[in-house]
Amino acid sequence: MNKTLIVSRELCRQLLTLNDCIPAMTDTLISASKGEIKMLQRSMIPHETSGNMLAIMPASLLNHHVTGSKVTIFSGPKSRATAQGIVPLFDTETGALLSIVDAELITVIRTAATSAAATDVLARKDASSVAILGAGNQGRAHAEAMGLIRDIKKVYIWDMFPAAVEAALEVLKEKMPGVELIPCQTAEEAVKDADIVCTVTSTKGDSPFLKGEWLKKGAHVNAVGACSGAAREIETSVVKRCKVYYDWKEATMRDAGDLMIPVRAGEVSFDDFMGEVGSVMTGSLEGRVNDEEITLFETIGISVEDIAAALLIFEKAKAQNLGVWVEI
Ligand SMILES: NC(=O)c1ccc[n+]([C@@H]2O[C@H](COP(=O)([O-])OP(=O)(O)OC[C@H]3O[C@@H](n4cnc5c(N)ncnc54)[C@H](O)[C@@H]3O)[C@@H](O)[C@H]2O)c1
Repeated sequence: MNKTLIVSRELCRQLLTLNDCIPAMTDTLISASKGEIKMLQRSMIPHETSGNMLAIMPASLLNHHVTGSKVTIFSGPKSRATAQGIVPLFDTETGALLSIVDAELITVIRTAATSAAATDVLARKDASSVAILGAGNQGRAHAEAMGLIRDIKKVYIWDMFPAAVEAALEVLKEKMPGVELIPCQTAEEAVKDADIVCTVTSTKGDSPFLKGEWLKKGAHVNAVGACSGAAREIETSVVKRCKVYYDWKEATMRDAGDLMIPVRAGEVSFDDFMGEVGSVMTGSLEGRVNDEEITLFETIGISVEDIAAALLIFEKAKAQNLGVWVEI
């Protein structure tokens, strides 16, 4: 029986950094676009009494010979526990269970790292300001991640709850010293002067708050928060104004309400969207061609990102002799 490396939440905090994860997500999106991976769409089991949902996200990284699945609970309103999850990693050749890695930080960091990787190829090189719409975990991580790929001087932050903005400001003051942090009363105020806009709210319905006419020429938008076919953060006017890219076509067609609600209404055509951002990274798909156009990266979050982040953590833990080896 082989031994399995258990990597705790605390150890993940020590090992998984945005700095390491951004290039890992670039490699992963490239592999996805080149067909070097196998991946299934997210499956979910809802539990009506608590509102908790079990989510399963499997994928294989063929060139790294690993396979696995994020298995996580999306906490419902009546849940007693905070969201918990794991990523079991297996060797595709031997079938050995290599590691079990906590998933909480993986979700936060890989999502912001993926947006940063996409922003790096799509945003103007001189982008220096960011609007964060939704000041939760993803909002904070996105502000920090954007600061790692561009010379960010200003971060505008808006949320439906001013207390969330205050809490994010406290954290970002430490994480982004020297950057001007600007709390905003409205989404429009946050967006109108921003070179990069990240929509990262936990909205679940079709009540978009970002309007196309607010966007500055040359801006780049990361639409992150709406992850179901029925939810939207951005109005059709945003989709119409932007050159549109996404993470994975199959998941986008099922779960990206931001794009698919206007497609279903006949307001835009899916064929008008550019394609997967990984293809821009390989040079096989056109990206931004001038400083005037507005680009949009629509991301649902795909399982291969979780497996790649778990692999990164496993390899660092093994190299540094950290974690606990057990015989399962
Ligand atoms: N695309 C991906 O890969 C991916 C990955 C992980 C999470 N997500 C999504 O990102 C979203 C944010 O996650 P999080 O962990 O930061 O959540 P969070 O609960 O920490 O923060 C969400 C914030 O959004 C605010 N908010 C909710 N609805 C709003 C609205 N209509 N207008 C303005 N503010 C609003 C809340 O007040 C809260 O501060 C969730 O919807 C989650 O499903 C996406």
